[in-house]
Amino acid sequence: GTPAAKSKQMVTLTIDGFDVTVPEGTSIMRAAAELGISVPKLCATDSLDAFGSCRLCLVEIEGRNGTPASCTTPVAPGIKVHTQNSKLKQLRRGVMELYISDHPLDCLTCAANGDCELQDMAGAVGLRDVRYEKGENHFEVRNTSGEKNPNWIPKDESNPYFAYDPAKCIVCSRCVRACEEIQGTFALTIEGRGFDSRVSFGAKTDTALTSDCVSCGACVQACPTGTLQEKSVIDIGTPDRSVITTCAYCGVGCSFKAE
Ligand code: FES
Repeated sequence: GTPAAKSKQMVTLTIDGFDVTVPEGTSIMRAAAELGISVPKLCATDSLDAFGSCRLCLVEIEGRNGTPASCTTPVAPGIKVHTQNSKLKQLRRGVMELYISDHPLDCLTCAANGDCELQDMAGAVGLRDVRYEKGENHFEVRNTSGEKNPNWIPKDESNPYFAYDPAKCIVCSRCVRACEEIQGTFALTIEGRGFDSRVSFGAKTDTALTSDCVSCGACVQACPTGTLQEKSVIDIGTPDRSVITTCAYCGVGCSFKAE
């Protein structure tokens, strides 16, 4: 998910000491990828428009203040970018620590186990410890008091093909963007702000089934965690192989479990 190059003007910059030349408008993340440097990311994908929400892809640019998100920052001539140093590693670990502090730690029984970008990134940034008290925003019962959590939203299993578990959502908006950009449907939105922000299927009373969702699966494919998960994966397991279809109905390749 990086801004597409719209111009033929080429720009040369340096990333981690290596020169790279890319079209003007290319994001730093994509320029780094040209060099084989993969910057940690959660909200960016290769195909969706960049959104810049997860803050995992922070980089440093010599002579500039701050640590911009490389997925939304375009290249500029002559800049010297650093994607790896101890400060960036510490910042990324801090970001991951906050995500994990409010995430159910049921990885071993989660259908996304082994196919979860949150899990991968926690490993990639070297997260070994979470110092914060466990967030309780997404849990039915508060651990601290044992009281029912008024903010809790139950799982939505109304759609015959996929389940939505809000407790696992990191609000990266990949599902929202996939719905809009791949399928051209606007069934998903993000409501609320800050800690209360969540993905919703439209009005509060809507479920996945009563929403504008056409069950194309683009959101499920885009989800980096087990939040949106195919029911077949929950029931049977991860497909052994996948096929890319060119079905007229939707733009999503279908996958299946080989028996
Ligand atoms: Fe850049 Fe999420 S990947 S902010």
